[in-house]
Amino acid sequence: MLIRRLDLANVRNIESLALELHAGINLLIGPNGAGKTAVLEALHLLFRGRSFRGRAEGAIRRDERRLHVQAACQADDRGTLRLTHTRERGGGAQTQWDGRTIRQSSTVAALMPLQLLLPELPDMVFGGPASRRQWLDWGTFHVKQDHAANLRDYTRALRSRNALLRMGEIDTLAGWTAQVANLGEAIGAARRDYFQQVVPSVKACLAALSPDLAVEFSCYRGWQGQGLAETLADQHLRDVKSGTTNSGPHRADVVLRAEGEPAAAVLSRGQGKALASALRLGQAQGLLKDGRPSLFLIDDMGAELDRVHGERFYALLDGMGCQIVATSAQEEVGEMLMAKRKGRMFHVKQGRLVDVGE
Ligand SMILES: Nc1ncnc2c1ncn2[C@@H]1O[C@H](COP(=O)(O)OP(=O)(O)OP(=O)(O)O)[C@@H](O)[C@H]1O
Ligand SMILES: [Mg+2]
Repeated sequence: MLIRRLDLANVRNIESLALELHAGINLLIGPNGAGKTAVLEALHLLFRGRSFRGRAEGAIRRDERRLHVQAACQADDRGTLRLTHTRERGGGAQTQWDGRTIRQSSTVAALMPLQLLLPELPDMVFGGPASRRQWLDWGTFHVKQDHAANLRDYTRALRSRNALLRMGEIDTLAGWTAQVANLGEAIGAARRDYFQQVVPSVKACLAALSPDLAVEFSCYRGWQGQGLAETLADQHLRDVKSGTTNSGPHRADVVLRAEGEPAAAVLSRGQGKALASALRLGQAQGLLKDGRPSLFLIDDMGAELDRVHGERFYALLDGMGCQIVATSAQEEVGEMLMAKRKGRMFHVKQGRLVDVGE
């Protein structure tokens, strides 16, 4: 699916903006505070139902009641369809696809695999496991239909179990423990299958980005050895004492090791970015094999990768033929990138478009 045109109203400092998007790279150039990231945020609101910068309501333009984002999407077999997202201050949000209201954000998310690359991307390597789990779940979700529902149900069951543990209501624990164990096994198995499937693509992307970087990838389920039901039984006392569930898919991680050490301990920041990029690009490449191109949202594209790594990164992306919306505050970065590839450059200033170039 391709986005042909994007219309925004009342998003951050943008009162109204219309972008005719290119099927290749779309680069937003402009000074700090121009509203470049706001455009990516609008796309994220549209396809994911939430912002990547705190509360979604914060994206509504000051003194306005609602924001509106609309995309004209070209779906191969169905012509051009409209996806819209409206969000009211103090109220809810509504997303419509082809005139029909969508209730679950996962339904829209499934329409288009989105890859969001923010300047904090290296945190995936250097930070805690949450963002790596998110990566794993995002990929699993796109290949395994019931993964999103399983995760939702698991989170609910885990919350209930933890609440009972905290209150010391041990007698009523069994039902939730069984649910946590069953759903946990299903989530663990789906993640493991996806992980095995995607790792070759990630390795290939890493080899293209940073041929000298040898990284070992493994997936920790969130518990050791035996089944989760047995683990929970064995750890019962520990859970009761700590008032929380100590094992399960909420403790899972994608373990990254370089030269026998945790990657976070030995890699430079730039190397970390290359590794994190490989994880994202590899994920998109895996989906591409199923004929599902991703939409890349890349904020501050020049940051942290040196010229060589930057060029390798974009060469890899070029090879995938995905649609990209990217930002940079540096004109030179934009010109260097656009010199070799097909796309469109949008100059943004104070929430307005000042110039469009091919
Ligand atoms: N709710 C809001 N209403 C109006 N303006 C806002 C709101 N929230 C943020 N802004 C302003 O919107 C502008 C757009 O910010 P944005 O982060 O999109 O800029 P940017 O072009 O990405 O800048 P940078 O190059 O610094 O990353 C900022 O000037 C910010 O102060
Ligand atoms: Mg920005």
